Amino acid sequence: MSKLKIAVQKSGRLNEESISLLKNCGIHIDNGKDQLKASASNFPLEVLYLRNGDIPQYVEDGVADLAIVGENLLVESQNDIEVVRKLGFSKCKLSLAVPKEVDYQGVQFFEGKKIATSYPNTLTQYLKKNKVNAEIHLIKGSVEIAPNIGLAEGICDLVSSGSTLFKNGLKETDTILTSEACLVKSKKLNAEQNALLDTLLFRLDAVQKGKK
Ligand code: PRP
Ligand code: MG
Repeated sequence: MSKLKIAVQKSGRLNEESISLLKNCGIHIDNGKDQLKASASNFPLEVLYLRNGDIPQYVEDGVADLAIVGENLLVESQNDIEVVRKLGFSKCKLSLAVPKEVDYQGVQFFEGKKIATSYPNTLTQYLKKNKVNAEIHLIKGSVEIAPNIGLAEGICDLVSSGSTLFKNGLKETDTILTSEACLVKSKKLNAEQNALLDTLLFRLDAVQKGKK
């Protein structure tokens, strides 16, 4: 019998809400938080706990059939996968920011300067669209520290509450994209798996409707 494998963040901001969404859909997952794989007891579903950045590729390859990821990651990774539903949580922006004392007049500020980011592809597109030549400095985390330690003149990173920017003396200048969690699927599902997904979506839509 077919089943569905859904990838969710192992840790991080999407993890908890992803799991509670599945629970609200009536799916019981036997966790084992330390386990990287868990099965649902009442639905043909397996949950894979993976590193956020690895998830889109797993879905493209069909290693995971479904996943819950942020749109920001999908734009950055450019994998060939389908968004099935936007989920309405983990809303954030991907933005440019500079030290708050900078007299910022527009994106041309970055011409010839360095920008630290974990989102090089999305940033490159934005700079290209605005005809700005800047050097991109790739950092995997704690990006907001970069201007303070002289690594870059500005940053491009996710903004949710804005508190990380504030604490690091930075101000948001340009919003490159807005993002929320979404359910994605692989293009490799078979007919049986697509039928299972329909059952899941039916429940999901009912849950989402109830929230409004
Ligand atoms: C994320 C993101 C921002 C921050 C935004 O970092 O990279 O730095 O959250 O949230 P806020 O606007 O509510 O402050 P995270 O804390 O996940 O750590 P990391 O970048 O070091 O991985
Ligand atoms: Mg961060």
